[in-house]
Amino acid sequence: MAKATTTSRAARAPRPVKPGRQLKRIEGYAVQNKRTPSRRLGKLDATPWQTLGPFYPHEFLIEPGENDMTRIAKGKPRAKGEIIDVVGRVLDEDGRPVRGCLIEAWQCNAAGRYRHAVDQSGIPLDPNFNGVGRTVTDEDGRYRFHTIKPAAYPVPGYDSWKRPRHIHFSLYAAGILDRLITQMYFPGERLNRRDFMFNALPDDRARRALTGKASRGARGATTYTFDMVLRGSRETPFFEA
Ligand SMILES: [Fe+2]
Repeated sequence: MAKATTTSRAARAPRPVKPGRQLKRIEGYAVQNKRTPSRRLGKLDATPWQTLGPFYPHEFLIEPGENDMTRIAKGKPRAKGEIIDVVGRVLDEDGRPVRGCLIEAWQCNAAGRYRHAVDQSGIPLDPNFNGVGRTVTDEDGRYRFHTIKPAAYPVPGYDSWKRPRHIHFSLYAAGILDRLITQMYFPGERLNRRDFMFNALPDDRARRALTGKASRGARGATTYTFDMVLRGSRETPFFEA
């Protein structure tokens, strides 16, 4: 008789996160563990570091419309799903606006599928949705994305872990040596309470900081306000690279 396997899917469910390491690693989250090696990567001929210098660009050349994720190109059909706007400001520790900050956003479609080779979920792609956008903050530190509301999606390899709706953000600007990465969650979502990443945040303040504030926009679409603070006591929780 064949020996019963001890590695069931349920046994691979994420374990609680150790205090103080909440944002460094979700224990048992195979994809993240693979990307977060605990030891040096052997004898690689790594390119040496050099300084960024004082002349890193303050201005990035972004084409108009790169912050509109609802169409893959101007004049093309609109993506499926509820249209939303995500707006906010990027601020420093003293509340001053950070201008010229390059913000990239990426997300799944309204059915829960990323347009990415790693996403093999079988959930349908939307031919009119790429799920990526870019923008640069203005003089007042403001940004805006026009997009569709992403769906929740199941995490591969787990029976009961479903990521709640969220949008990924990357920030990069003069004075930032490594880009900053975080996620915006949506308010009132039942799955927020059961998500290992959202609940790996240290406290309710951090969870509130990563939850967009909903309001009714001028054109009827819901607007989510999501400010990001780079440092200080009100710092936005960022994932370690
Ligand atoms: Fe995601």
